[in-house]
Amino acid sequence: MSEPDLYLLGRAGPEEERLKRQIANLAPDSDQQLERVGIRPGERVVDLGCGPGGVLHLLGKRVGPNGSVLGIERDPNFVELARRFVAGHALPQVDVREGDAYATGLPRRSFDGAHMRLVLVNVPRPELIVLEMVSLVRPGGWIASFEADFLGHICDPPLAAWDRLLAAYVAYSAARGIDLNIGRRLHRLFRNAGIEAISVDAVEHVYPPGHDRRPILRDFIDNVRGGLVAEGFIGQAELDADLEALDQHLADPNVLVTSHMFFRLTGRVPEALVIKA
Ligand SMILES: C[S@@+](CC[C@H](N)C(=O)[O-])C[C@H]1O[C@@H](n2cnc3c(N)ncnc32)[C@H](O)[C@@H]1O
Repeated sequence: MSEPDLYLLGRAGPEEERLKRQIANLAPDSDQQLERVGIRPGERVVDLGCGPGGVLHLLGKRVGPNGSVLGIERDPNFVELARRFVAGHALPQVDVREGDAYATGLPRRSFDGAHMRLVLVNVPRPELIVLEMVSLVRPGGWIASFEADFLGHICDPPLAAWDRLLAAYVAYSAARGIDLNIGRRLHRLFRNAGIEAISVDAVEHVYPPGHDRRPILRDFIDNVRGGLVAEGFIGQAELDADLEALDQHLADPNVLVTSHMFFRLTGRVPEALVIKA
């Protein structure tokens, strides 16, 4: 299945900049997860929806010069950026190709492991991408998935404008079949795809004043603000007023802002794979 433009956050410049910052922001959380996977030097690994870099450098270092990492990314601009990113890290064992995570066309069961971060929370048919991901890994190989859940994303003191903007964003996403609370059901998606030895943990952060990701709700709204108004999820005047109130709130050092909750799943492809209907 290939759906030309159903990546929730779009591809405009600010989203590109946000994803580049995300590489460093989330590297410690991802590296901790990859440590637990136990990736061995020489392994052949695939990363679906790698964006402008994602974790390609972390995977590349772990498989070493005798291993290989293949990043698959649908957006040609991100493919180019990811190639530059790995070149900057001098990691010739990492290759990036344009492709669709729903249907990669890659040989089945040909990788030792597959990784994916923050793709499922942006797409309408996550279960199909999970099946594709699992099908790429050899029996006994590993799976690592890292996804967000909006459960944890709050501010304190509460703000009515925050609640309205978040509700509009959730409704806009749901209208596109996108589940912003997918993190909590990651374990089910992979269990249904036949994965065994599933282990899940979750991490959450506080974003203090000045942190890159403190205004992430603002960033997400900005990515889709035209659509929010055009499709009637919020009126233009209300949007403008709520964004102003949100900016003031985020600028207040006495306001606490938390991240999304990030669920990290690892598991194994069984010797005989059985996929539940
Ligand atoms: C939020 S970004 C995450 C990027 C990277 N994995 C990271 O964690 O920094 C989601 C990425 O998935 C890509 N994507 C969305 N749908 C895709 C698909 N069907 N096939 C391949 N890539 C896809 C987007 O273009 C975007 O680069």
